[in-house]
Amino acid sequence: MTSKIVVTGGLGFIGSHVVVELQNEGFEVVVIDNLSNSSKDVLKGITEITGIEPIFEEFDLRDKFSLSDFFKRNSDVTGVIHFAASKAVGESVQLPLLYYENNLASLVYLLKELEQLKEANFIFSSSCTVYGQADELPITEAAPTKVAESPYGNTKQIGEEIIRDTAKVSKVLNAIALRYFNPIGAHESANIGELPIGTPQNLVPYITQIAIGLREQLSVFGDDYPTNDGTCIRDYIHVVDLAKAHVAALKRLLEKKNTENYEVFNIGTGKGSSVLEVINAFEEVSNQKLNYKIVGRRAGDITAAYADTTKANEVLDWKSELNLQDALLSAWNWEQKIRQI
Ligand code: WQD
Repeated sequence: MTSKIVVTGGLGFIGSHVVVELQNEGFEVVVIDNLSNSSKDVLKGITEITGIEPIFEEFDLRDKFSLSDFFKRNSDVTGVIHFAASKAVGESVQLPLLYYENNLASLVYLLKELEQLKEANFIFSSSCTVYGQADELPITEAAPTKVAESPYGNTKQIGEEIIRDTAKVSKVLNAIALRYFNPIGAHESANIGELPIGTPQNLVPYITQIAIGLREQLSVFGDDYPTNDGTCIRDYIHVVDLAKAHVAALKRLLEKKNTENYEVFNIGTGKGSSVLEVINAFEEVSNQKLNYKIVGRRAGDITAAYADTTKANEVLDWKSELNLQDALLSAWNWEQKIRQI
């Protein structure tokens, strides 16, 4: 009997790649999305890849009635992977209450519905942002969380605590939080990928928009950091590898292999790359020269972050298989596809 899995925010960048990997593994997938930062075209992209159109319901998790009605109609759900949240760091500073309501109130409403199920296996989309600038690199799950630099980062920290405290006393909830490093790239088919609305805040979609001619010049935010070339270091992980980590985590809970009712895993490649290294790697794989200039630092940026992935490797039996070049080339192929070049 296949397990029915709900993916909230399943038409988003990471969510859509997870839906594909779940379907590849034979799961029945139901997507909930309010389309505030995605489009129904993504359903077509998923179906083109897997040949199976996921069940889709459009509503907002803050709408308690719709949420309760959904779970009354889907009481056979055995797992939930929760992506639905606002995720723009800068915007969260300007609109804290939007972030606290959308990311946390909806999490509470969702967890309350899960309490009505026979079993609730819950995977939470968290972020390495909870570590801030870690004191030691690579970063293990034992590293302390730091005071969040933004309301967005704070919602990830508070979200983890809400889940941890609930799983402690719940009779049905078992949960895993996955702390992503920097997800980049797109599915090899170029049928799904990242669709930033407006000016991309993140490095890689900005790079591909420069390369395709949509934007003039990339600003590199600072080259006076204490790193080998002065630019910030991040752990860029291919979104397909990240998606497979979600399936591994979900299976751990469905197969009752978890040793705690709440577990945390860092999901990265374990390798750090500087901004200039990303630029050079992109120029190599795309054969496109990137026009960039060094400008001042961006507020809130940390110098370096990359994961110690031992726990995910050993406990989830998962490790990243694709490298930076694979991810950048897939991002470039996706950019060309959506601009129909
Ligand atoms: C990467 C590096 C920038 C853009 C953010 C969120 C994090 C997670 C991933 C959701 C940094 C530099 C960037 C540009 C640049 N999101 N950069 N010029 O900030 O590491 O992480 O996205 O969970 O929570 O904080 O990613 O891609 O924005 O920046 O020089 O135009 O690229 O300074 O060093 P970041 P990013």
